[in-house]
Amino acid sequence: TYVVLDACIKCKFTDCVEVCPVDCFYEGANMLVISPDECIDCGVCEPECPVDAIKPDTEPGLEKFLEVNREYAALWPNITVKKPPLPDYEKFQQEAEKFEKYFS
Ligand code: SF4
Ligand code: F3S
Repeated sequence: TYVVLDACIKCKFTDCVEVCPVDCFYEGANMLVISPDECIDCGVCEPECPVDAIKPDTEPGLEKFLEVNREYAALWPNITVKKPPLPDYEKFQQEAEKFEKYFS
């Protein structure tokens, strides 16, 4: 599966949702997640994200975010249509510890 990482938090560009052939993105207030049960590992979403927030779970160190994606994909609504990024996304792009501060 592919995994959405904390770079998405407070940005939410949503370019990723338009390309997913199985519509497996789910939307929280500040971040999107991918359903690991539905993702078919096609990889087309990875280069679409302007802030490189999407990686394959074969990369090391992604266990925490894989679990975050799994847990919240079951709770949040599906999103398939692109929308404008969140206000002030430029301000938050470089910020550290976004998960601790803003995850929702
Ligand atoms: Fe969707 Fe493919 Fe990205 Fe998985 S890898 S979330 S199936 S676009
Ligand atoms: Fe987030 Fe990137 Fe998609 S910022 S909404 S993972 S395009």
